[in-house]
Amino acid sequence: MPSHSVLFVCLGNICRSPLAEAAFRRAAEEAGLDVHVDSAGTADYHVGQPPDPRSIDEAHRQGIDISGYRGRQLAAEDFHRFDFIFGMDRSNMQGIAARDPGNGKARTAMLLDLVPGSEGRELSDPWYGGEDNFRATWEDVTMAADALVELLSKRNG
Ligand code: 4NP
Repeated sequence: MPSHSVLFVCLGNICRSPLAEAAFRRAAEEAGLDVHVDSAGTADYHVGQPPDPRSIDEAHRQGIDISGYRGRQLAAEDFHRFDFIFGMDRSNMQGIAARDPGNGKARTAMLLDLVPGSEGRELSDPWYGGEDNFRATWEDVTMAADALVELLSKRNG
């Protein structure tokens, strides 16, 4: 069984959280960390759909294929199955709290709280933006993924 399980959550599970999932998968693999990783949306708008083409393109530019990812909605069981659930912005955190059954094990936080100097900063939605916004999303999720790997590596002893 993997020693750490992490779920990344945004609104639609097609723009930001799939990129966060991809960045953390890669960072954990490079660090030799045994993790279970997934992503989900607070909303059900894009359940069963692949990531936004602009997220697929950005991941592709980073050498990662996320075209096989499929959207799903955050469920109460996730709070029992995952050690950590990270939201991207304050609205996501409200959506996460609304689905929290209250008796799970998951610790919840906003993703950029992991990055020293970026605590409290929201990872803004690139949905209405262009390629530059998706690039900025990649940079943010990569910083957070690296910080999380460092944190979990230390915990592993
Ligand atoms: P995400 O971006 O939450 O990063 O996946 C969005 C995806 C879909 C919508 C909004 C944001 N939407 O309104 O459908």
